[in-house]
Amino acid sequence: MIKRMKGTYDVTEDIAYMHEIEKKIMTVSRLFNYNELRTPHFEASSLFHRGVGEATDIISKETYDFIDRGKRDNTLRPEGTAGVVRAYIENKLYIDPVTPQKYYYYGSMFRYERPQKGRFREFRQFGAEAFGSPHPHIDAEVIAYAVMLLRSLKLKDVTVHINSLGDTASKTAFHKALKTHLRDDIDTLCSDCQTRYEENPLRILDCKVDQDKAVLKTAPKPLDYLNDEDKAHFDQVLQGLRAMHIDVEVDKNLVRGLDYYTHTVFEIKVSKDLLGNQNAICGGGRYNHLVETLEGPTTPAVGFAFGIERLIVALKAANYPLKEPYLHSYFLVLGDRARLAGLALMQRFRMGGLMCNMDFMEKSMKAQFKQSDHQSARFVIIIGEDEVNQETVQIKDQETKEEYTVTINEAYEKVVDLLTAGSACVDCDKGEK
Ligand code: HAM
Repeated sequence: MIKRMKGTYDVTEDIAYMHEIEKKIMTVSRLFNYNELRTPHFEASSLFHRGVGEATDIISKETYDFIDRGKRDNTLRPEGTAGVVRAYIENKLYIDPVTPQKYYYYGSMFRYERPQKGRFREFRQFGAEAFGSPHPHIDAEVIAYAVMLLRSLKLKDVTVHINSLGDTASKTAFHKALKTHLRDDIDTLCSDCQTRYEENPLRILDCKVDQDKAVLKTAPKPLDYLNDEDKAHFDQVLQGLRAMHIDVEVDKNLVRGLDYYTHTVFEIKVSKDLLGNQNAICGGGRYNHLVETLEGPTTPAVGFAFGIERLIVALKAANYPLKEPYLHSYFLVLGDRARLAGLALMQRFRMGGLMCNMDFMEKSMKAQFKQSDHQSARFVIIIGEDEVNQETVQIKDQETKEEYTVTINEAYEKVVDLLTAGSACVDCDKGEK
């Protein structure tokens, strides 16, 4: 039997969580005035090499690359930001008079990582990017947006970790200080860190292997190398967050795994009990030079991305109350003429906004009642030979156990009356059990 590929999974019972998250994403994105942007799942490989950074783990070890039949180099997107920036430049979205231009996206990303709890090779991200404003308060707004999504999902046990890397001058000063500090001990670090020392020294700070070594504990931190301007930016981000009553923890070791960040970086984490080391459910930050690097106009930008699978683990652990799927009516039909009459009436019910299903398996009466139970139908609409002859139906209310016989023409109205009993608003009540 052909099995699914390592690191992938089929969405079966988790679909209800995904739908719930997707609904909240749309609502919260509307509140923050972000519009959805959909970009391709594969792009030219060079986009990610230039955008995310050659020396990052994501690009050096984890991309899914392929050459297509036209001999082009393609890469399955490992993250969303580079593609959104490419789309922003290619579609000249920067001429939109509404500034900053704000977009969100949702979909599969692909990384060739070692699969473990909360880590897949195909996973989903919800991300957002705001283009055009260098103001620190948009960094704060972006974090508020991420936190609002978590609040709408009633997730409380999360911590927002924040740090600042500063812009180019501060980053260069820090890199120099870090390399000087590590120079004599470089041989004592893991092989990954020895490579990082030359190519990406910043990442040594959050190495899981070496984190307890004295040389790392005493290492200089990016925050200590911010120039006055960059420090003022970070202070204003924190001020904006305080104004919105959003608690954050300044984490001097937070550096993030992608090369494009400047200034603010942040991660939202849940407890390690839930997800082990993969406990970051969201990561993001400011990237003031990426649009330029990819040959667009000078455009400061900031954004984040959530890992949907990790969010689902957190929701399950918090016992998030999902509404059970249900039906308004199940059509129990006995015989060919009854099935046809049921089909016609069910179409009227559905056109009137009622969720319905019926028997398509020619099951017995008992088995059809069982099916209606499995699908949590509030009403069973029974149609047999007698009902067809008399142009009636029986309605069984599974909640009150009352039964009614009405004409086919009265059936829809009767069901709506029973669903909305005591309520002035038909539309509100029809949709809720
Ligand atoms: P990232 O930290 O690489 O950032 O990914 C964001 C989130 O995606 C992580 O916090 C995690 O929840 C989830 N994630 C990453 N890799 C996996 C995986 N293999 N399996 C399951 N979930 C995963 C970015 O991707 C940036 N583009 C975020 C950003 C947007 N920065 C600015 N704008």
